[in-house]
Amino acid sequence: MPNRSDLPADFRWGVSTAAYQIEGAVDEDGRGPSVWDTFAARPGAVRDGHTGVVACDHYHRYPEDIALMRGLGLDGYRFSIAWPRIQPTGAGAVNPAGLAFYDRLVDALLATGITPLPTLFHWDLPQALEDRGGWLNRDTAHRFADYTAAVADRLGDRVPAWITLNEPFVHMVYGYALGIHAPGRALLLDALPTAHHQLLAHGLAASLLHGRGLDVMIANNLTPVQAASSSAADLAAADAYDALHNRLFTDPLLLGRYPDLTAFGVGPDLHGAVRPGDLDLITAAPLTGLGVNYYNPTRIAAPTDPGGLPFDLVDIPDVPRTAFGWPVVPEGLRELLLTLRDRYPDTLPPITITENGCSTTEGPDDPTRISYLATHLDALATAITEGIDVRGYYTWSLLDNFEWAEGYHQRFGLVHVDSATQRRTPRSSYAWYRDLIATHRAKSATR
Ligand code: BGC
Ligand code: BGC
Repeated sequence: MPNRSDLPADFRWGVSTAAYQIEGAVDEDGRGPSVWDTFAARPGAVRDGHTGVVACDHYHRYPEDIALMRGLGLDGYRFSIAWPRIQPTGAGAVNPAGLAFYDRLVDALLATGITPLPTLFHWDLPQALEDRGGWLNRDTAHRFADYTAAVADRLGDRVPAWITLNEPFVHMVYGYALGIHAPGRALLLDALPTAHHQLLAHGLAASLLHGRGLDVMIANNLTPVQAASSSAADLAAADAYDALHNRLFTDPLLLGRYPDLTAFGVGPDLHGAVRPGDLDLITAAPLTGLGVNYYNPTRIAAPTDPGGLPFDLVDIPDVPRTAFGWPVVPEGLRELLLTLRDRYPDTLPPITITENGCSTTEGPDDPTRISYLATHLDALATAITEGIDVRGYYTWSLLDNFEWAEGYHQRFGLVHVDSATQRRTPRSSYAWYRDLIATHRAKSATR
């Protein structure tokens, strides 16, 4: 079996973070409020009332965090840019102090030999745009294009590749369908237009970036879907879930059409959101890469409630679980990549794993995380030898950080962060990842 020591010589190593989860400094240098500031302030919304007001104080401590990245020997760093720092109300004039932060960050990364890989939207929509409907409002896509242009004009001379959106699926479902994340809307299937408006935003931004000669990616949360049995009812339910979670996003991007959602009683215009010409806008610029965030497979059975959604989520039996309760199935990563190739043989661009990792309750010694990362990288190496073009791996995450509705309870960091003192302590997984990168690099140099 191929394993992680056989990864291609030019394979790129990174870590991923997101602005609201690490930056803090929510009131500084003219930043406007985001939906996450509003949501986290709402009693009961986030576990134990945690917020991102301070988070990892990365806004001030970024030099220390870049030193930690340098210690790992990374090729790349995926972070996100906070739209409310750039345009405090989501529209109009750019806030120079907000843009200056990312300017400093990019220069500091480049000085260290680390390639910046920014994500333009990782869920922290300016609250002023949410007040006008957020991603339910088509105009948000146009606002996103304006914001993208402002950022690319400033950083595009030094940043070669860009990720437009992070996990439009999770943002739609957690943010707008179930209300577990900001903005806390519980619209169920009426949230579907947010998928289209996010994809439209991606398409408009992608054209602007492409026009400036920049590489464009999008990162989605993808999951291999297992049917609970081979019964026709379970298979149909699994197919419906797969359409909603995976194909709703990858089909328009890579095939130029939406999947069949009739199992949900929804037509191809997603409740009237899709207008003539929109799919051409979504695919107008080529995707130079597809970002895959992989955590776990999903197991699906036929619905027990005939009046509800056309599927039930069920537990995957007999597998280990992370502290979050998520099933650990490294083979699911390989399966997911093979499915993508089968599904999009002519249009699948090179893949980058833009997130993968696990939360644990371990202290400085975290063998569970090392095992999670090692087994997933082995599965990835196998998929690559089977012909899947995967260019890099960005683990989630560098630091313990604000894990959305779970506050600081789910800890995903290679580096432990003491929330009271902000003291950073690299875990054993940090040393393991550093050594893995060094070994891969040494081996590649002799090939
Ligand atoms: C899923 C993860 C996903 C997360 C979003 C979980 O239920 O298993 O893959 O990233 O929700 O917070
Ligand atoms: C998100 C991250 C999140 C991670 C773990 C993904 O859903 O992009 O922001 O922290 O998974 O839940």
